[in-house]
Amino acid sequence: MKDSILDAIGSPLVRVPAPEGATIAAKLEGFNPGGSAKDRPAREMVLAAEREGLVQPGDRLVEATSGNTGIGLAVVAAARGYDLTIVMPQSMSEERKQLLRAYGADLELVDGDMTTANQRADELAEAVGGFRVSQFENPANPRAHYRTTAEEIIEQVEGREIDAFVAGVGTGGTITGTATRLLEEFPDMEVVAVEPAANAVLSTGESGSDDYQGMGPGFVSDLVDRDVIDRVETVALADAEAAVRELAREQGILVGQSSGAAYVTAWRVAERIAEPELNCPEVSFDAEDLADADVDEDALADGGDPYDDCPLVVTVFPDSGERYLSAGVFD
Ligand SMILES: Cc1ncc(COP(=O)(O)O)c(C=O)c1O
Repeated sequence: MKDSILDAIGSPLVRVPAPEGATIAAKLEGFNPGGSAKDRPAREMVLAAEREGLVQPGDRLVEATSGNTGIGLAVVAAARGYDLTIVMPQSMSEERKQLLRAYGADLELVDGDMTTANQRADELAEAVGGFRVSQFENPANPRAHYRTTAEEIIEQVEGREIDAFVAGVGTGGTITGTATRLLEEFPDMEVVAVEPAANAVLSTGESGSDDYQGMGPGFVSDLVDRDVIDRVETVALADAEAAVRELAREQGILVGQSSGAAYVTAWRVAERIAEPELNCPEVSFDAEDLADADVDEDALADGGDPYDDCPLVVTVFPDSGERYLSAGVFD
């Protein structure tokens, strides 16, 4: 039994279809209590502030967010007894707004983007004497992924080598924290960042306008550690949404837009590093299929995994598709 919902943070790593001769595994962050990867930094940022004596239960937290961090903070605030004000661009999905209210957060919507939301959150924190969580600057954000996302992945690959890690970039917390820890275990691993094609600020230095929720804030956050990133890829929203529908309809995996972009990119990376002559297993849950698979008995006799050699791409699917139903992604 878990003592608190905050102890229930964590997610499975699941094999998804991959090009022949490669394996793609996705961290399904929609399994977290608040439905996204952001539960991790939300918990870490609040607990770090408590340890530093900056906040205590009963205080008010203030944050600007495109949604998921707000929902993560709303879970933590409710579970630990904080008041919470969230500032969010009006354009974010209805589900996100309703979820925040359901957890009891106070919500202020602004016309404009994340920059506008950040400015308003600064003003509000000042006015009400609240603690500004500052996910775009807070080192506890990447630290949460270093400590939890990456540690879980290392355990979940069960001794296999990870050849590439692919993650979308918003605050940069996921890619910086997870890749930094994974590189300690797998120094030769390639790290690939994903951003919206229409707002490719990491690739081009120029911001643009895109309809992704959560990915591509339109500026490069200080938390993005470019030293751990080998390459940046862009994905058009239409391609990401096509991947999202395929994952839902053919795999039973319901995820959001940035997960679709991560999957499109993971597929490209897997194609580049695939070794088609290897007999890599496909997605399968059927014990009969497993028994029939072409297993290398010698490797098994040695106690090894016969698929150890299949190039492995690990990626992160940051949230569940349930919060995109009104956005028309599945229509
Ligand atoms: C749906 C979604 N995808 C991707 C990201 C990017 O994650 P990070 O902020 O850790 O870079 C976020 C961040 O809010 C998000 O909400």
